[in-house]
Parts: sequence; structure tokens; C-alpha cells
Amino acid sequence: MLLLALITFAELVLVVAVAVAVVYFLILLPPRHPSNIPTIPFWVALLPFFKDVDQSEIFRKYIDQPLRTHGAVKLFFGAQWNILVHRPSFLVEIFRDEDLYQKSGNQKKIPHSVLAAFLGDNIISSHGPTWQTYRAVIKPGLQQKFNAGLVAKNAAQLCRLIQQATQKAGGHGITVQDLLQRYSVANCSEVLLNMKLQALERADARVNVLRTAVKREIFRPVFMNFPVLDHMPFPSRNNARALVAAFKNELKSALVRGAAGDAGALGGEGFGKGDEEGSKPGLGRRMLDAAEAGLWSEKQLLDNLTVVFVAGQENPQLLMISALYLLAKHPAAQDAILGELSAGGTGDEFAEQQQQGLPYLTSVIYECLRLFPPIGQLINRRVDADVVLGDNIVIPKGAYVGYNCYSTNRDPAAWGLDADEFRPERWGVTSEQIQRQYRQRRARAEFISFHGGRRACLGERFAMLQMRVTLTVLVRQFR
Ligand code: HEM
Repeated sequence: MLLLALITFAELVLVVAVAVAVVYFLILLPPRHPSNIPTIPFWVALLPFFKDVDQSEIFRKYIDQPLRTHGAVKLFFGAQWNILVHRPSFLVEIFRDEDLYQKSGNQKKIPHSVLAAFLGDNIISSHGPTWQTYRAVIKPGLQQKFNAGLVAKNAAQLCRLIQQATQKAGGHGITVQDLLQRYSVANCSEVLLNMKLQALERADARVNVLRTAVKREIFRPVFMNFPVLDHMPFPSRNNARALVAAFKNELKSALVRGAAGDAGALGGEGFGKGDEEGSKPGLGRRMLDAAEAGLWSEKQLLDNLTVVFVAGQENPQLLMISALYLLAKHPAAQDAILGELSAGGTGDEFAEQQQQGLPYLTSVIYECLRLFPPIGQLINRRVDADVVLGDNIVIPKGAYVGYNCYSTNRDPAAWGLDADEFRPERWGVTSEQIQRQYRQRRARAEFISFHGGRRACLGERFAMLQMRVTLTVLVRQFR
């Protein structure tokens, strides 16, 4: 009996050892090439499982130094090895050659995953002719003039909600993440997509509940790092898939209602501006038309609608959070914004000003974007052939390449020794200086919050308008 137990134990040890060896050699052993950049140990990716650490802490402790020194490192993420690039001159090469460094999102990298089911094949992660089909529909919808008055109306409602919550809390501080989520959902759905989801009016609106639940399920570290687990029929994964489907359907029906001019869906001053008779069709209408005309399949419509909604809502929300944090830390910047605003006008003039002027406010927003880029790190390009990055980093065909905006945007070689400090003045004083500096920094890939090249963000204009209006209204109302 004892012998049997011993053999069983020995066998067990052997099986475990073989399994560990297979996992190590197939997954965890870093690739040999590129051979001249450092490797971040794979266990760094696993730290969030074992202790409650901040991502920026992990970054500073284990990644920052080798990344800056060598310009790129090998990094384990999403159950595979990737090349993470920091140096601006390398990024210029990557942004320039989009066919060599091809977009290859989750739908190709981890097609079975919940994340892939959520965002599918879409304008951000596709490549070549498919991407062009998406872009032809979406880009004109994002380049129109947006309704600043409608954003201002939502911002006023946000202020009322903050006041109510503060009163309820007896004048103590409140957390604003949920309110900012509802506010950015309202702006994205109403101003961009011409659909009404009641996000600001009701905390328990279906879109609010679904958005929060989907985020919670999708961004669990264990499934982010080991998407292979998404294959397993865990109740949590089945739940995540059901939530994803419900969320996508919710968006689609709101889009259809909005386009039909349903009285419940459309309402409020200035609503549906982009879809008014005689004006160009808005983004939502354009996407529906593409599907109705057979240019897009139903799945392509759902995937692109979801990605536009997520990019158009989540990134501004994150930027608002960092802007409030930085302004709270720098009250002098609040004074300076107020000073600039009191020199400006009101009403239509205000709306017009939001579209272009306000240099100091603009430099504050750029500085927030520089220090806390909403998309801190992204690894979604795959090299299509063996390539030499810079002078001597040989990247084999098929390797995944990504960037870390957080580190590039704070590069002391580009921004000076005070790169980590909040200093809006670094962008310049007049609108012309600020815009010139902005263009140069982007062209040199020293400021990559919207990335660069042909695949740079298409929603920048809307994001900037929304931020200008939001900060204007909030700074006038609160300290
Ligand atoms: C502060 C706000 C925003 C930031 C920082 C941001 C950042 C980015 C970044 C980094 C990319 C490139 C992603 C990649 O390389 O894979 C991107 C792409 C894109 N963004 Fe944004 N974004 C913001 C707001 C928006 C908004 C409001 C929209 C509106 C829907 C939007 C729509 C898009 C689209 C459609 C693309 C894909 C462009 C293409 O590949 O052709 N973004 N964005």
C-alpha cells in the first residue's frame, strides 16, 4: 500500500514536472530574437495575482529602466512574448510602415476569447482592405463639427449630480468615476451616435449596468494574462459572453431607434444635429446605412459600433479622471483656466470658442494626455516579415510589437529632466506655438497618446472638444 502510494506520488511529481517543462519551453521561455534587447522576467506579468500592486509601480520597478536604456524590451503579456517599444525614433519607423507592422487585434491574436467576442473585427484592429471599408464609413462621421451646446448641457447635468452626491455625503468628498462614466456615455451616445440611453438621467439605466458589468468581467487579470482559460466553460466566462451579447444588442437597438427619430430616443435641444435634413448624415446613420447597403455585414456593424462606443467613451472618461486629479494637485492651473475663460464670451461665442481657442486650457489637456495617456500600453501589431528596427534589432516575422505611451510621453531625452512634472507651459503660450509644438512632438513620436501615422486616432477632435467644454463647465462651478 505504502509502495503504491509512493509510486503514485512519484508519478504525480513526474507529470507535474513534465507539464511545467512544457509550459516553460513552449510559453514562458523568452524567444531568442531579438537577441540584443533585455527580457523582463515573465513573472512580472503575474505579480497582480499575488499582491495588490499598482500597474505604474510595477512599471517603474521592473520595466522602465531597461525599456528606456535599450529603447525596447521583450515582455510577457497575454500569454505570449512581445516586443515593447519605447524609443521615439523606433516608433516613427513603426507608424510609418503600416504594412510591415500590421495591426492584428484580439480577433486574430486570441480569437476564442471573450475580449475578441466583445470587440470583434473593427476599425482599430483590422488591416488592409477591410480596414479601408470601415474607415470609409467612420472617418467622415468623426470629422464633422460636433454640437458643443449638447456637451455643455450634459456637463451642467453632471455638475448637478456631483452637487447632489456631495450633499448626500454631508459635504465630504465623493468618488466621481461612476458619474464620469455616465457622463461620457451620454456624450458619446448622444453627440456622436445620435442615440439616447438615459445614462445621465438614471444610474440604473440598462447601458450603465451593462457597461460596468462587462468591464468587470473582461478585465480580470487572470483572463487577460491567460486567455486560454476563456475556452473553459467557467460560469464566469459564460456570464461574460452573455453580458457582451446583451451590451452589443442594447447599442444596436438604441442606434436603430435614434436613426428612426423615435420620440423617446431623440429629444432635447440641439439633438440629432448631424442627422438633420440638409446636413450630412451623422456617424450612427452612416454605420446603419453601410449595413443596409450590404457594404458591412451585421456582425461588422455590431463590432464597429461597439468599438466606436468603447473608444469614444472610455478614453475621454479616463482623461477626465486624470485631468481632475492633476487640477486638484495644481490649483494655480485652475485659476489660470478661469482667468482665460473670463476673458472669453458666452452663448454661441462660447460654443465657437470651444471648437478652437483657449490656448492655456488646450495646453492643460495636452499635458494631462502626456502624463496619463488613457491607453497606457497597447500591443496589437504583428510584423509581416523579418525586419530590422533601428540599426540592429532584428525582429522575426510573426512577432507582436507594441508601445508604452506612458513611458515614451515621459522620455527625459525628449522632454527634459522635468518630464514627470505637470507643466502646461511647456507646450507654449499662444495657440500657434502650442499647435506647432503639438504637431512636431507627434511627428517625432515623442507624444503618442493618439499614436501616429495613418492609424492615429480618428476621434481626437471630438475628444478635445468634449474635454474643453467639460473642464470649462467644471472649473467654473467647482474648486
Ligand atoms: C482622449 C481620448 C482618446 C485617446 C487618448 C485615444 C487614443 C487612440 C489611440 C492610441 C488609437 C490607436 C490605437 C491603436 O494603435 O491600435 C486610437 C484609434 C482610434 N480612435 Fe481614439 N482615442 C481617444 C478618443 C477617441 C474618441 C472619442 C473616438 C470616437 C469614436 C475615437 C475613435 C478612434 C478610432 C475610430 C480609432 C481607429 C483609427 C484607425 O485605426 O483608423 N477615439 N485612439
